[in-house]
Parts: sequence; structure tokens; C-alpha cells
Amino acid sequence: MEKKKYLNNQRKLTLKSTYRGLFNEIVLNFRNAVLDDCEFDAQCLLEFCTGKSRTFLILHSSDIVDEKTAIYLKELCKRRINGEPLQYILGEWEFMGLSFYVGKGVLIPRQETELLVETATERIKGMKSPVIFDLCAGTGCIGLTIANLFSDSTVYLLEKSDDAFLYLSRNKDKLDIKNAFLVKADIYEGFDSFSLPEPNIILSNPPYISAGEIPGLQKELKYEPYMALCGGEDGLDFYRCLIQKWIPHIKKGGFAAFECGENQAEYICNFASNIVQYCEIKKDLNRMNRVVCFHFQS
Ligand SMILES: C[S@@+](CC[C@H](N)C(=O)[O-])C[C@H]1O[C@@H](n2cnc3c(N)ncnc32)[C@H](O)[C@@H]1O
Repeated sequence: MEKKKYLNNQRKLTLKSTYRGLFNEIVLNFRNAVLDDCEFDAQCLLEFCTGKSRTFLILHSSDIVDEKTAIYLKELCKRRINGEPLQYILGEWEFMGLSFYVGKGVLIPRQETELLVETATERIKGMKSPVIFDLCAGTGCIGLTIANLFSDSTVYLLEKSDDAFLYLSRNKDKLDIKNAFLVKADIYEGFDSFSLPEPNIILSNPPYISAGEIPGLQKELKYEPYMALCGGEDGLDFYRCLIQKWIPHIKKGGFAAFECGENQAEYICNFASNIVQYCEIKKDLNRMNRVVCFHFQS
């Protein structure tokens, strides 16, 4: 349905509604707008605007919502209907039990990225005071989570975008992580351009969508920065850079793990075959190749 026509058809949120009534109206509007996860989004926005817990809202479902809150909620619902991601509207999103600031200019942490962190965690467990790089750090969901889990590690997070770097700094401060160091940097300059210690581990979730695929992405994804999504013509530019300019500097016994897109893992392993002794591919819950790991002998 055309956006304008849909907006005209949209039911207006009545100002004197109960919590239950308001919830039902939002869900209906979201369904009309053909959003995914209508109930979930409506619940999150209701909790966010009222500042009440889910349990409170259930127990007080017939209470009247004050007018100011109802107007605010209506504004936020409009933004969601226009395609703005729920996470940007809420301003914070959870990743592996930690809450990260998110908003325009930074990629929203994805659930599939937890596989990269879990893979890294298994390897880090046996290491003493490792030096870890998170390249293309965005919100810092990978590197800050790891730094928080392993207080004897030293984690360097590199990010080029001004906007993303701002979120990265805010997240480090909010989570109060002392063993993480932020570097505003273009990873294409390579390890040799920086005065960083040689790493034991390199982790990265770089941009990996091919330029040709970007125009066809769903509306919500187009709200996220192009720079966080586009990995060049074939989507693989960043992996070539990581393999040529970064992983040769990993210390003996170390490893690297990169998140990748569907059908990219084998290319990445082959591309690294001259440099790396052992490559492993991990599948996500949908049985897609999602993480490529490189192991270096001691
Ligand atoms: C796919 S996002 C991943 C963000 C975060 N690691 C995560 O998993 O949510 C890629 C990130 O790389 C950053 N980036 C793009 N080009 C870069 C470059 N040349 N050097 C450093 N960072 C870059 C983008 O700004 C974006 O934050």
C-alpha cells in the first residue's frame, strides 16, 4: 500500500485510552503498515513511553494513560511506521546482556554477532592477558563485551566513522570498561600505520554487503549507515584488507575471527590460505556459514 494512502487509513490513537486499548490500537496500526513483530514493537514502545514494566502494564491494563504520554507514544509510532528501526527510537539495545547506546549513524548490534563473541570467548578462556583488536567496532558490542568478560585482556577498538565513534565512546563510558582503548582509525591504513602492540586476537564484523545489493535492502536497513553496510563491489573488500594488512601481525598461538555474509566464508578461507595454517567455518542457528576463524600455531 502507498505510504500516503496508508497514513490516511491509519486509525488515530485516541487520547483517552487505557493501556490495553492503546496497545491494541498501536498493534492494529503496525499491522496495517505491514511491519514485522507488531506486538513486540508495540510493547517496547509502550514500556518506553510510560516508563512502566510489562508486569505493571498487565496489572494496570484498564488504567487511563495520561494525555502527554499518549501524544508522545503517537509520535514514536509514526516514526516506526515510517521505517525507522525500533532500536533507534528506543536509543538503547541489548547485546549479550549489556545495553548499548544506538542511534542514527551506527549499526545496531545483531543477534547473529553473538556467535562471533561466543567463538572468541571459548578461545580467550585459555589465554593469559591477551591483546585483542576489534576492527570496525561500531557501538563496540564485540570488543566492549569481550573486555567486560575478560578483565585481564587489553582490547583496542578501531572505528573510522565520526558518528559511530561517538556511540563507541559513550558506550565505553556507560559500561565503565577500563581495559578498552578506542582508536579513531581507517583500517585500510593497516597495522603498520599505528603504534599498537602486536595482537593475540583480531575480531571483526566488517561491512560485507555488496554495493549492488544495497538498493534492494529492506526499509529499516536503509536507515543504517551505508558505511557500516557496504563492503565494496563484491562485499569482500574488508576481508582482503584484514587478511593482507592485519592478520600477518597476530602473535604465535593466536587467532582471528570474522563475521561474514552468506556464501562468503569459503572465499575468505581460500583468500587467506597462503598466510594461515588452519581455517574453521562456524554456522549460525539458521545453518548459514557465519563466522570464519583462523588459528595460528604456537
Ligand atoms: C558492520 S558494522 C559493525 C559494527 C559492530 N562491530 C557490530 O558488530 O555491530 C561495520 C563498522 O565498520 C565501520 N567502518 C567502515 N569502514 C571503516 C574503515 N575503513 N575503517 C574502520 N572502520 C570502518 C563502520 O562505520 C561500522 O561501524
